[in-house]
Amino acid sequence: MLISPSILSADFANLEAELKRIANADWAHVDVMDNHFVPNLTLGLPVVEALLQVSPVPIDAHLMIEDPDRWAPGYAEAGCGSVTFHVEAARDPRTLARAIRAAGARAAMALKPGTPFAPYADLLPELDMVLVMTVEPGFGGQSFLADQLPKVREVREAVRRHGGEIWVQVDGGVGSDTLERCADAGADVFVAGSAVYGAPDAAAAVERLRALAQRHAH
Ligand code: DX5
Ligand code: ZN
Repeated sequence: MLISPSILSADFANLEAELKRIANADWAHVDVMDNHFVPNLTLGLPVVEALLQVSPVPIDAHLMIEDPDRWAPGYAEAGCGSVTFHVEAARDPRTLARAIRAAGARAAMALKPGTPFAPYADLLPELDMVLVMTVEPGFGGQSFLADQLPKVREVREAVRRHGGEIWVQVDGGVGSDTLERCADAGADVFVAGSAVYGAPDAAAAVERLRALAQRHAH
């Protein structure tokens, strides 16, 4: 069970200090938005390269961008431990996942709430993680979409049948009130933005979420 706090809810003027607040997390989740795939703009590769120099934990890059086929491998080459592309935006997800792995990162595919998993199930051999979005991508602090839990379950079942170490990540509205339902459905990587950075003690929030997740481990 892994906790990946999203720095989208951190203080963007002090990202180094904000990363150090979550040194007890497993990953740092970095949301890259291009104002095309989603109606919001955050940061890109030069900032991620700077974060990689100072992050106490590996970076989990979530790319909410058009044309990931062109841009995503660069995040792996830069040293991100995990690179997630949205399958809705990818031209050739199989080749893209292979390119991410070849560049040394874990390759992950994200699904928006309206995107079913079944048409992409045959990509599992190329993947190290599937991200089931539990909000519409674009903004932190939105309410958890419980109607995504059956998809989490479906992905977990497919991963179990397939075998190997493929993680199932949830992102959006995940906090102490929703994490357990995600864990019960089969998620094992939990992204939390406002639930961690909105807490007075971010590290304590990470510990609380991890303890909840471990109680519900399968
Ligand atoms: C939303 C991002 C999330 C976001 C989650 O598009 O992908 O990572 O930061 O924020 P919370 O946890 O506040 O819903
Ligand atoms: Zn995200």
